[in-house]
Amino acid sequence: MNKSKILVTGASGQLGVLVLEGLLKKGITNTIATTRTPESLSQFAGTGIEVRSADFGDPASLEQAFAGAERMLLISSSDLASQVQQHKAAIDAAKKIGVKYIAYTSGPNPEKSPAVTAAGHWTTEQYLKQSGVDYTFLRNYPYVEVLYLTLPTTIQCGEFLGTAGKGKVAYVTREDCADAAVGVLTSDAFKNMTLDVTGPQAHSHSDIVEIISSIIGEDLRYIDLEAEALKSRLVERGFNGFWPDALISFDLAYRQGDTQSTSDAVLKLSGHQPQSVADYFKANAARLRK
Ligand SMILES: NC(=O)c1ccc[n+]([C@@H]2O[C@H](COP(=O)([O-])OP(=O)(O)OC[C@H]3O[C@@H](n4cnc5c(N)ncnc54)[C@H](OP(=O)(O)O)[C@@H]3O)[C@@H](O)[C@H]2O)c1
Repeated sequence: MNKSKILVTGASGQLGVLVLEGLLKKGITNTIATTRTPESLSQFAGTGIEVRSADFGDPASLEQAFAGAERMLLISSSDLASQVQQHKAAIDAAKKIGVKYIAYTSGPNPEKSPAVTAAGHWTTEQYLKQSGVDYTFLRNYPYVEVLYLTLPTTIQCGEFLGTAGKGKVAYVTREDCADAAVGVLTSDAFKNMTLDVTGPQAHSHSDIVEIISSIIGEDLRYIDLEAEALKSRLVERGFNGFWPDALISFDLAYRQGDTQSTSDAVLKLSGHQPQSVADYFKANAARLRK
């Protein structure tokens, strides 16, 4: 297993860097890391990791960029508008050069979720399944870190705004998602499986408010609004363009229960328990007000 070359795409993203670090911690250096910005991975020079340039938007370049790889982590592209086309190009190129296994970073319940990111994940999962290449779908639940999008204004205004009702989210840290990805890349035990990668417990927005209030020593409140009202309030708070509708779509997914399950995937794949939301924010309290 350790001899087959591992390819990590999108390697300069926040998850990609953690995956490269996780592979190195396991002593695995026969890795190809592809990214649009090879210069941003200079910290891995001399580790054995081979950094190559690749852009899913340039399909003709991908076969050369992926050459030699046998196992692959396809990190979903953040370019939502072109994502599906990009993922298909990456899967096609990987298959052509003989990649035998692809792990894909998906999301929770993509077949039915109203989250703005779900349809792309679902289409990609179907395409990968039909490609005939062995796969694992790592359905990464919302990162704990996504809460940083709204927590600074929440703390400023004293109110966490949402439309998730009592819906719960089994937030997982990015680091635990990376450890899970390292787990599937270095084992054959998870082939052709769909895994929910979750934190240890699901929390409603009210629960999150309670956790953060106790860490910062201030009383915050959760205000549940209708989607339209939430949209105007988010705009007032400075969210614009893609963000108000995207945040509402995530809350609607939470409200309908798409993110409430917990699993033992992190433990099984990494050998350690996932970090809880409370422990994560206690350890990173200084970032809360930024
Ligand atoms: N579960 C969650 O809560 C959550 C939250 C946010 C995002 N996500 C998804 O998970 C992915 C990884 O998360 P992250 O935190 O690492 O996001 P990130 O730091 O924003 O990184 C963006 C990722 O998209 C890749 N990308 C964008 N355009 C690309 C292209 N044309 N060709 C190839 N790769 C492209 C980047 O690769 P390079 O820059 O290295 O080329 C990078 O890996 C995101 O891209 C997104 O799909 C999940």
